[in-house]
Amino acid sequence: MNRLALLSALTLGLLSFNPVNAAVIYAGKEKAIAVCSHCHGMIKPSADAPFPSLAGRDLTYLKSALAQYRDKTRKNDLMNALAGSLTDNDISNIAAYYAGLKIK
Ligand code: HEC
Repeated sequence: MNRLALLSALTLGLLSFNPVNAAVIYAGKEKAIAVCSHCHGMIKPSADAPFPSLAGRDLTYLKSALAQYRDKTRKNDLMNALAGSLTDNDISNIAAYYAGLKIK
């Protein structure tokens, strides 16, 4: 591959990254969670943290919130985009992960 082809391949790779595909690009629970944790990673956020904490939250609540974001019955541009490509399986796995985190 010549240098130009390599460069355009790299550029295309970067440009094609967008949050809608986050769960696809970061296939697998661990990697999806790595994406989510940029915003939801704090176990004990301060009271005015902009992102709701997910650690130790109710499993059923987390699952339904994610399904609602995916299906756009709960509207938030950011979360609609991020949850848009999650499968039922992803949702169960991710919800179970956060519900199982200890808040201490
Ligand atoms: C760029 C920051 C950001 C990322 C990344 C992000 N979220 Fe969110 N998330 C938010 C914001 C902001 C809200 C509050 C939206 C609202 O008011 O409905 C939210 C809300 C939520 C809620 C509802 C919480 C509640 O108290 O009702 C869940 C569940 C959730 N996110 C899960 C996830 C999962 C799972 C991922 C990874 C696939 C993720 N988020 C990635 C910013 C983010």
